[in-house]
Amino acid sequence: MELAALVALTLLLGALVGLVALAVGRRKEEIRMEEQAAEYAGESNGAKVSAPKKPKQEKQRTRKDKVSQHTFSHPLLAATLKSHSGNVTCLDFSSNGKYLASCADDRTVRIWSTKDFLEREHKCLRANVELDHATLVRFSPDSRAFITWLAYGDAIRIFKMMKKDDGTFSFKAAPEDFPQKHKAPVLNIGIAETGKFIMSASTDTSIHIWDLKGEVLASINTNQMTNSYAAISPCGRFVASCGFTPDVKVWEVCFGKGGEFREVARAFDLKGHSAGVHAFAFSNDSHRMVSVSKDGTWKLWNTNVEYKKQQDPYLLKTVPCASSEGSRVALSPDGRVVAVSDGCNVAMYNATSGELEEDLPAVHSEEITDLRFDINGRFLVTSGDKAIRVFHNAPGYRASIRDMQDMLKKAANEGMKQRLQQQIKEAQSTLDAVLASHVE
Ligand SMILES: *[C@@H]1O[C@H](CO)[C@@H](O)[C@H](O)[C@H]1NC(C)=O
Ligand SMILES: *[C@@H]1O[C@H](CO)[C@@H](O)[C@H](O)[C@H]1NC(C)=O
Repeated sequence: MELAALVALTLLLGALVGLVALAVGRRKEEIRMEEQAAEYAGESNGAKVSAPKKPKQEKQRTRKDKVSQHTFSHPLLAATLKSHSGNVTCLDFSSNGKYLASCADDRTVRIWSTKDFLEREHKCLRANVELDHATLVRFSPDSRAFITWLAYGDAIRIFKMMKKDDGTFSFKAAPEDFPQKHKAPVLNIGIAETGKFIMSASTDTSIHIWDLKGEVLASINTNQMTNSYAAISPCGRFVASCGFTPDVKVWEVCFGKGGEFREVARAFDLKGHSAGVHAFAFSNDSHRMVSVSKDGTWKLWNTNVEYKKQQDPYLLKTVPCASSEGSRVALSPDGRVVAVSDGCNVAMYNATSGELEEDLPAVHSEEITDLRFDINGRFLVTSGDKAIRVFHNAPGYRASIRDMQDMLKKAANEGMKQRLQQQIKEAQSTLDAVLASHVE
């Protein structure tokens, strides 16, 4: 009991430290300043950006032009990451939490430092995709490499990140790309957190499971007519897909004791939607999944079941929401917040109550291509146009305050009570500061 309370408290403290850091970062900022800072950051990377250098007198105008492209402001907007000169199509956080990778049709992959999110400058490192561009990017489990899907090459290319003496990275593509195996456009790729396999999935219902050297271990036909999304679970055990049919299918990728590949076996299905499924997402422990469907709802599932004993996932919640072809969904790592994109808009829901907590309209000038929570659940990031938007996960913060209030009710001694009261006060005023510091 004591120990459990202590662990819980430590976790909450972690969240609080995050909140405090966030407030400090936030107070320094003002939305307009932030926009400009992003521009300056872009310029300070100028030498590396592929756009030709402009004469000095033109700079002022260029900056104005850029700002007028798509203006967006929202109380929860923490940062706008700019550097790409093409539309961003995919985002991925490294599992050590330090980096965000983005790729665009400007032939670059950018690696951002997550600890800069609340700073004025958002520096990024650039990896060039020679004679091609990446449509998808995923970090390796050790955060020291990433894989990309090549738009023209129709294949996977691996990049290694090599740390130089000055702490920056250089990027080196593996000598050979994976062989071309897909006959239709590829909608997602992934590397299992166990490091045992790579997945690529295409719209024509084929999913290939690869070893890390580029040999196909197995191929799956999802039998879903067409596929709209597929992904590996964060635990690295499962591969799931959805599409035209109203189910999400989940397979286990099985390995032997010695680490040798054995088989891909059907695990379980999420059954309950009444129309095709646009997308799904997992919580970080793979115990929860969320799916968003053409039937106009999202559904939350408990997938922590013994499927080998014929136990089916439990449907926890069905909530009406706006969605459309291409909609994406994200689940916060702790499974408490659901974010759904519909065209250029994002909505954030309380996963437990189903309540709509935040409406983020017209986040991008074009359809949202990706949305994800960072590994600590502090931020939600989105892509669509050339910019990447970083939002505070306010619903998540509110939940941790609520948790502390619950703990306060159960607190056994006066010392603990006072500590919790103090922490709640601080967390609340920090959250208030985040919201109040927004300048329209
Ligand atoms: C999932 O995220 C929560 C909240 O950020 C964290 O406390 C927990 O350790 C994470 N679990 C895994 C399996 O990564
Ligand atoms: C969601 O709502 C439930 C019930 O109202 C509440 O206990 C929980 O803290 C809320 N969670 C979030 C993430 O806001």
